[in-house]
Parts: sequence; structure tokens; C-alpha cells
Amino acid sequence: MSNRPEYVSEAEMNRQEDARERIAALPNRPETFHIVTYGCQMNAHDSEKLAGMLLQMGMTETDDRTHADLVLFNTCCIRDNAERRALGNVIWLKQLKKEYPKLMIGVCGCMVQQPGMAERILKQYPFVDLAFGTHNLHTLPTLLYTLLTQNKRVVSVSAQENLIAEGLPAHRLAEYKAYITIMYGCNNYCSYCIVPYVRGRERSRRMADILNEAESLLKGGAQEIMLLGQNVNSYGNGTDESFPELLRALDRLGVPRIRFMTSHPKDLSDELINVMATGSHICNHLHLPVQSGNNEILAAMNRRYTRESYLDRVAAIRKSIPNIGLTTDLIVGFPRETDAQFEDSVSLVETVGYDAAFTFIYSPRKGTRAADLPGQIPADVAGERIGRLIETVDVGTAAVHQMMIGQSENVLVESLSKRDGRQVSGKGTRGITITFEGSEKDIGRIIPVTITSSAANTLRAVRK
Ligand code: 5AD
Ligand code: SF4
Repeated sequence: MSNRPEYVSEAEMNRQEDARERIAALPNRPETFHIVTYGCQMNAHDSEKLAGMLLQMGMTETDDRTHADLVLFNTCCIRDNAERRALGNVIWLKQLKKEYPKLMIGVCGCMVQQPGMAERILKQYPFVDLAFGTHNLHTLPTLLYTLLTQNKRVVSVSAQENLIAEGLPAHRLAEYKAYITIMYGCNNYCSYCIVPYVRGRERSRRMADILNEAESLLKGGAQEIMLLGQNVNSYGNGTDESFPELLRALDRLGVPRIRFMTSHPKDLSDELINVMATGSHICNHLHLPVQSGNNEILAAMNRRYTRESYLDRVAAIRKSIPNIGLTTDLIVGFPRETDAQFEDSVSLVETVGYDAAFTFIYSPRKGTRAADLPGQIPADVAGERIGRLIETVDVGTAAVHQMMIGQSENVLVESLSKRDGRQVSGKGTRGITITFEGSEKDIGRIIPVTITSSAANTLRAVRK
């Protein structure tokens, strides 16, 4: 099932642009803004769009949230701790607002999109001026205009789940490394996950729009494009376009590096593996969340694959791309998970040997099917399980790192070491962080290196 997207009309986008200009001319508009982003890359890219709009209103971005006139919290609600962290920080600003009444505080994103949350925020956090959800991010200019001209709190959470807003300005964090969202939302309804409820139904952007965006990024100096979506490999579902086709077209454009995330194991087709294997610019990295190694838990999670079919996909991709870097997500302590079922996750991690894995303790999310299941796992049991799982992941990571010593890699340099300023680090095509001697002028460039040793979560290398 896939929702036909509805594009925000040109008239509406013009209305927003008009509001941006009118705000720029307002004498009482904020001069500076600061955005605090929680959660995944989708949120990071949404923040780039928020920043793009605010810059066009004549404001400047500041790194220091204690000196900004407008602070926006772009929130996440995937787990309880993400939500608590965001709210904790919002409360922290309450004091600052007492000292500096001009300060405006906005809250947006996934947490706000949950049913009833906007009302709760209004009631419990009277110092919050502005709240909006994920579906109407593009309306920030008109919302802010109302706030500034009518001097009243503004809350707007749209229930329309199938919208796509094209043409928003984005202020990219780095020119050489750019995100492109290719699809929004998710239809999978994994029983633990809140994403389908806060990001809406699955909808894909037009391929022509994506290619245009990629072309202009390439002209602007992009070395790497990361394609984003909750489930990128179901891109084009319900249309004539498909993810392998999109990847092939992007590969032909000549962007030096193409990455994508996240992929669902059930949609990892042989065709996609083939495009990854034959493309010239597609990185040899696949993030393939498994969540659990036990078939009963996978069924209860509504993942729609089995341990065996997952391992079959891993074998297929390794056969075509022997140096593929595999990473994953795992949840421990799903309701009623027994010790034996948890051991299946441990043994799956041992069998696959991932480059890296993100491990999470299950967090019940209101409104999801798993939240009402009996047999929630006590925190101490879940804590022990995650500790053991991390140890197992680390053994696999160390083995991959050991195997890479002596090999060549190409590193896209992202930063200069804070310690001595003579080391630079970035990611190889496989996705592992690599450090070597360099200077500021290497940032944003792809540099060939030879791996020399492994240290904690990174690899050390020398230039070729
Ligand atoms: N509890 C714990 N982890 C979760 N994830 C998603 N929902 C939950 C939840 N309720 C994890 C999954 C997903 C990653 C982005 O977050 O592993 O792949
Ligand atoms: Fe959540 Fe599952 Fe969709 Fe991923 S595929 S966003 S885990 S519902």
C-alpha cells in the first residue's frame, strides 16, 4: 500500500516565500537563531531546511544557544530517552527566558507530531512560543509571521500525511557531503515503532526532482550524496520508478560517492544488489537493520522476514560484493523475549560479523502495537542483555578492522583532530572512520590511504 503523494501547491509555496520576505522586513524579528537537532539523519536534513528558511528571513545562525533570539528544538520520539532529553533541554531554557524575555522557543518534529502532544506542550510548557509537527515544516514562515505580528503562541500540527514540499531552501552543513530525502514516511508498521505514526504514509519524490537536486549539488562541489528515507529500497512503490533505477541514474551523473539509508531486509532485491555491485560510485556499505535473530520475535515485531531469509540476503550481497561493509540495528528486551530468544540475536551477530551495530533497549511507544503486549522485560535484564550484545558486536568489529590492515581505502575527510591539529579523519567507502596525518585543506577531499592499524572504533592509515 502506498499513498499517492500530494505536492504542496505553487501558490502555497509562494505564500511561504512571501512570508519569509515580510518577516525579513519586520523590525521586531529575531536577529539570530539556533537549532538543536535530535534523532536520525532525516531530522538533521529537516533542520537544514529550517535553517535555510530562517536565513532567508534575514536571520543569522549562531552556535551558542544562550545567545540566540530564537531557539528551535527539532525533536525525535523513537525512544523514551530521546523524548526526555529534548524536554529536559526545553525546560532548561525556561530560566534563560526569564533573564532574556525576547527569547523565542520553538519545538517541532516527530515528538510534536504525536497525538495530543502539542496540547500537552502548550499546557505544561507555557514558555514555549511555537510548536509544529513533521507534516507542516514548510509552513514555518507563516507560523513565525503570526507569532511575531499577533504576539500569541502558535501551535500547528497538520494531520495530512501524504504531503511533499518541493523546492525548500536548505542550508547544508557541508557542501561536500549532502543529504537528499528520496522518500518520506513508512508503511511497515513494525510493532515497536512510532515512525509510521509521526512521519506519515510512505511517499516517494519524483525521480526527476531528485536527479535535478543531485545535479545542482554536484555542480556545487558535492563529493558524497546520502539518500535518505525510512525505507529507501521501497522507493517508488506504487509508481513506475524503483530504487535500483534511481541508483543507476544517480551513478551515471558522476557524483563521486553515493550512500543510502535505511534499507529493509525484506526489500533487498537481487536487482538492487546487482546495481550496487556494478555501479561505479555506489559505496560498498549497507545498513541492514535486523532487530532480532529469533524468528518468533521477528514475527511479533512484524518484520516480515526470518533469520534464515536475512542470512540468505547477507550471503547474496557478500557473494556479489565481497568487501561490503554491513551494519545493523538490534533491539533487546522486546516484550516476552526469553533468554534463549535473546541468544539467537547474539549468535546472529556472531554469524554475520558486522562492521558496527547500533543496539537499543526496547522502549514502549504509546500508540504502537507492542506497547500493549504483556511480558515487558525488567530494566536490569534488558541492561544485561545489551551489555552482552555490545561485547559480541565489538568482537566482530575488531575482526573486520584487523582484516582491513594493509588494505587501500579512499577517505572523504570531514574533520581535523581537536587534539593536535595534525590528524584528519573521515569515512572510507565502507563507512568506517579512518584517521591519518593531514591538515585543514584536506577537509572535503577524497584521499587514498593504506590502513596501518586499528584503534578502538577507528582505523589508522597513511597516505598513499
Ligand atoms: N525501542 C527501541 N528501539 C527502537 N527502534 C525503533 N523503535 C524502537 C523502540 N520502540 C530502533 C530500531 C530502528 C532504529 C532506528 O531504532 O532498531 O532500526
Ligand atoms: Fe519503523 Fe519498521 Fe518503518 Fe523502520 S521499517 S521506520 S523500524 S516501522
